[in-house]
Formats: sequence, C-alpha cells, structure tokens
Amino acid sequence: MISRDTIDKVFETARVEEVIGDFVNLKKAGANFKGLSPFTDEKTPSFMVSPVKQIWKDFSTGKGGNAITFLMEHEHYSYPEAIRYLARKYNIEIEETQQTDEQKQVADERESMYLVSEFAKEHFHKNLFHSEKGKAIGLTYFKARGFTDEIIQKFALGYALDEWSAFTDAAIEKKYDLEFLDKTGLTIVKRNTETGIVERKFDRFKGRVIFPIQSMSGRILGFGGRTLLTDKKVAKYVNSPESIIYHKSKVLYGIFQAKQSIAKMNNCYLVEGYTDVISMVQTGIENVVASSGTALTPDQIRLINRLTPNITVLFDGDAAGIRASIRGIDLILEQGMNVKVITFPDGEDPDSFARNKTKEELKEYLEENAKDFIQFKASLLLEDAKNDPIKKAELIRDIVASISKIPNNIQKEIYIQECASIMGISENVLFNELSQNIKREQRGASKKPILKTPFTGVKKETKKAEAVNRLEVLESALIWVLLLYGNNEVDFVDYVSEIDDKGKKIIKKEEYINVVSNEVYVNLQEDEIEFTNPVFLKIYYEIIQQLNQGQVIDIDSLINNEDIEIASKVTSILMDEEKHVLSDWERHDIIPKKKVRGLPKFVPDVIYNFRGLLVEEKINTLKELTKTTANTLKDSQEILVMVNDYSELRILLSEKLNRVV
Ligand code: CTP
Ligand code: MN
Repeated sequence: MISRDTIDKVFETARVEEVIGDFVNLKKAGANFKGLSPFTDEKTPSFMVSPVKQIWKDFSTGKGGNAITFLMEHEHYSYPEAIRYLARKYNIEIEETQQTDEQKQVADERESMYLVSEFAKEHFHKNLFHSEKGKAIGLTYFKARGFTDEIIQKFALGYALDEWSAFTDAAIEKKYDLEFLDKTGLTIVKRNTETGIVERKFDRFKGRVIFPIQSMSGRILGFGGRTLLTDKKVAKYVNSPESIIYHKSKVLYGIFQAKQSIAKMNNCYLVEGYTDVISMVQTGIENVVASSGTALTPDQIRLINRLTPNITVLFDGDAAGIRASIRGIDLILEQGMNVKVITFPDGEDPDSFARNKTKEELKEYLEENAKDFIQFKASLLLEDAKNDPIKKAELIRDIVASISKIPNNIQKEIYIQECASIMGISENVLFNELSQNIKREQRGASKKPILKTPFTGVKKETKKAEAVNRLEVLESALIWVLLLYGNNEVDFVDYVSEIDDKGKKIIKKEEYINVVSNEVYVNLQEDEIEFTNPVFLKIYYEIIQQLNQGQVIDIDSLINNEDIEIASKVTSILMDEEKHVLSDWERHDIIPKKKVRGLPKFVPDVIYNFRGLLVEEKINTLKELTKTTANTLKDSQEILVMVNDYSELRILLSEKLNRVV
C-alpha cells in the first residue's frame, strides 16, 4: 500500500491544470481554463478546469472531479495507479506502508511476475526486428498477413525463436528468477519427481508469433502464441496458463489500446480473435476487443461496462457458429447492457473482411449492418421455425427468456411489442410467457437474484420512479446547502405546538440562530432519517464526522477524498455552482452574490420536504405490513399506533412547511 504521507504529498504537489494539460489542450478563460471535452467528440469547448478550486468539470458528459479522478476517468487507472502516475510525474518518491510478511510476499511475487512478463514482451518484440530468424520468419509472417510496422508496435507483437530455451536462457542471464519464469508459464520446468531437482527447462512459446495480453492500464499479464505451421495436429494457439497475474476470464485482448476510443465512441465492438482486433484497428476502427475465442464472462462484461453500456458483437460468417453463440449473449443483457450484433458474409471473419477495406467502407458496413440483438434473434429463430407450431412455441419461450434478462422494465415492454410484431403473434401471448418466466425465476431466486423488482408493467414503475426522483432532488439539495453554506449562521424561525394553561393546543413561533449544518443534523436526527442515495449518505457521514472533530465542514478534504465517489460527487456539485458563473465567463469575471439571503427559508423548506417524503414512505410500508396475514393481533395494534404517530408527524411537518413558505 502507498503510505498516507506519499498520497498527501501527491495531493499537495499535483496541479489539476498541469495534469489535465498533458491530455487536453487548455486555454485560459478568466480565472479558469477551458478546452474540448476529451470524453466526447465536440466542436465547442465545454470542459472546464478551475485552478483555484483544483477541480474540473466536463459539462458535456457531467463528469467531474480532481486530478486523480481525471486520470481514473481518462486513463482508466485505479486509485493507486493514478497516485503512482502522479508521483512519477512530479518526482515524488513512493513510500509503501508496512505490510505483513504474507502480503509482502504476494505483492513481491506478483511484481516479479509482471517484471519478467515485461521483459518477455520486449525480448520477443526485439526478435522480430533485430534477429535474422525473427525477421525472416516472424516479421515475414506478419507482413504476409498485411500488418504494418506501426500496428506491430502498437500491439507489441513478437516472435519466439524456434529453439528449446533461447528465451529462458536470455532471461536467466538477465538475472530473472526461474521461479517466476515457471509461475508465469513462460518457461516449462521439468523437475525430477523424487528429488525435485530441475532436469529440463524449455520455452513455452518456442517457434510461435507472440500476442502480448495487456491489462486496462497496460501491464503485461500473459501471452498468446500462434503457430506458423499448418499441421492440424499442432494447437493453433498456445496461451499463458492461469496465474496470480493472468486470469483468462477477467481480461479482454486489446482493451488497453481500445479504452479511450470505446469511451469516446460510446460503443465496444467485440470480436473473437487477436487477429480480428488487430486488422480492425489497422483499418481505423479502434473501439474493438476480443474475448479470445470463448464466451464472454461477467467479469469481462463489467470491464466493458466501465467504459460504455453499449456492446456490438461481431459474428464470423458461419450460421452454425452464430446459433451456438447467441446463447451467451443473454449474459450481456443480464448486466443491463445494450447489445447489437453484426454478421459477415459467409466464410468471412472481421479480420479477413477488414483487411482489404478502407476505414470508411468498414465503418459503413458496421453501421448499416448492426442489428438489435433481440430482433436479430427473433428473425433468426423464426427462420428455423417457419410453419412448425411446436418449434414456434419453443421460439417464443426462447425469446422471452432473453427479454426477461433485461433489468429495465420499460425496455422489456418495448421488446415485447417489437418481437410480437416480428413474429406475428399477439403481445399478450408474450406478456403471459414473460410473467410466467419471471415467476419461475423468482421461485429459484435464492440461487440467482436476476430481477430486483417484479415486472408489473410500466405505469406503476414510472410513479415509483417519480418518488425516487423527488427524493433524489431533495437529498441533493440538502448536500448542496451543506457544502456551500454549511458553516453559515442563519436566523431561523420555527413553530412548535404547545398546550396552553387552558389545555388548548397552540402554535408558538420561535426564533433562533443556528449554524446550517447543525440545523440539518438535528432535524434529520429527530425522526431517525437517513439519506437513501448511498453516495449522499457517505458524504453526509463524512460531514458529520468532520463536525464532531473540527466544528466546521472542510470542503478540501471532501474534494480530495480517498473515496472517489465522494470526491467526484462533491466536485460535481461545486462545479455546477461554477457553471452559473461560467456561463458568462467570456464576457466578464463576475461572481454572483451568494444567495445567502434566501437561506432562512430555503434550509427548512428542503428539510421539511425531505422529512415529509420519508415519513410518508414509512407510513406506506407500515400500512402494507398491516395487510399481511402473518401478524398477531398485538403486532397489528403496534403497527397502527406507529402509523398514527407518523401521520401526526406528517401533519406537523406540512404545517411547518406552509408557514415557512
Ligand atoms: N484460440 C485459442 N486457442 C486455440 C484456438 C483459438 O486460444 N487453439 C483463441 C485465440 O484467442 C484466437 C481466438 O480464439 O485469437 C479465435 O480463434 P481463431 O479464429 O481460430 O484464430 P485467429 O486469431 O482468428 O487466427 P487466424 O486469423 O490466424 O486464423
Ligand atoms: Mn479468426
């Protein structure tokens, strides 16, 4: 782990405008910088950097944060990777915190495996250009496939000489440990079964051209080696074995080279093989990755999902293969991604198809032939079923199974309508099948909770969404007030009900001064209410903790918070405030007067609305509870008492609200 000290030093030193300046062309504009969004293809700049606040905001995508979050968004670094990058940029020495011996050993082992893999990549790559045999065999092979020097560099392709231990010997001469050559699988080590003494060691990839497999951030994790022989008995590819650095199910070939393009184009093309990726990139389509010949795994889908919700699967030309692979696509739907598919003419794959095309031709083909997955599946299966009613029933079940995987209910409904029209059957038949399907899945739900909410049709869902939305707006307003005015003192007015001497209920007006943060805290405390949005809740806890320690809210420590979600939400809120200033930033450098005057009304307004909404929800859940038959009489009475209490509170809150407004 990187020490707290190092992290602090990085934060003190790094200037957000310098860090971003390495990636975006920034121009001074008043107190800020502006530039073209690096996340979209835009013509007018909507990307802002504030050197004063040390934050950035991209108004075209809504993203924002500090220097670290920029690197995480743009370079797709993890938090520690971003810290390490900045430390390197600013020549800050990285101090590691004390680790247990076991942690240290695993970390060291992993690091050593990365190092030897990096060495192997360089070694194989050099063979291609600097050894006679490498040039004559490896490079000639790639050239024959039409690969340019540039693309060979970009993917760091290489060649392993056709000798038993040429690579292993070179590595050992450079003092790399046999242990890690063995663990990465680069070297196959044969030991005597009795004595354990090493008898033979030879290169796994001997005589093959090499495709290094990289992580999202560019580390070498493993290799694929293709034979140059056409002998059917020789495996076409040999790949690195599973190890603590290489998990086949968690990597996608080409993701390092494609990540920026995937985010920018907001789509990811998925192909089968290494060569498909390389040919497409060479032709000019860069947002492409390969699953390396197997069905996509949930981890791989999540990797893509970090960059885009849209995925387009490219199928090779043979029909049998397509029928086999469409099953795997339900998994992608399950993750809530939008799936399209593209097929190629018989006998062609993306590699052969892209090879003799221009970028424009390829692009046009991809755009014109992308079909929505479910529609594609429906038409394909319909072809099989034709006039066979039994097959058609199967087909309906099959299609509905796919649709039921989609988490979004509105989308589900749209698909039902479309498929009904493609297949020429009534929507009701499909809806029926869908609800049965969902019931079946819920019965087995203990195994696999696919559907979070039961399918109830669109209308109810939107109503619920509205309530969720109102809550979100109120919670966001509360956090906004805390961040901007949390430390301000305000004259508040409150109305409390009292019983006077004659036993009559009267409403008394009370005036008092309080700090905004304290007012919010006390109010929420009163009926034990919490934020429902998890990020807001985290920010709120962080603020409460600060108040308990230092009396005031410290914005800086929120902006630079280690928890990236906190940092990015807070900057986003602060920068949105900036936006009002910036909308006129070209003309003048005016900072609008803070709307402090409205606070005595605004703060209680938000608080009472928020409390009111949550209390209402509590009442509703309690009422639902009374309907279940499982309650004892005592339970039911207790619930009713609670409903009463909350109802009174709700009335009081709305009275207060009316007076404030
Ligand atoms: N694959 C593998 N092991 C094999 C065959 C295939 O790991 N024995 C994986 C590789 O990742 C390969 C992908 O499946 O890239 C697709 O296989 P294929 O289409 O046969 O290979 P290509 O890479 O397309 O190779 P080529 O174009 O040279 O035939
Ligand atoms: Mn292929």
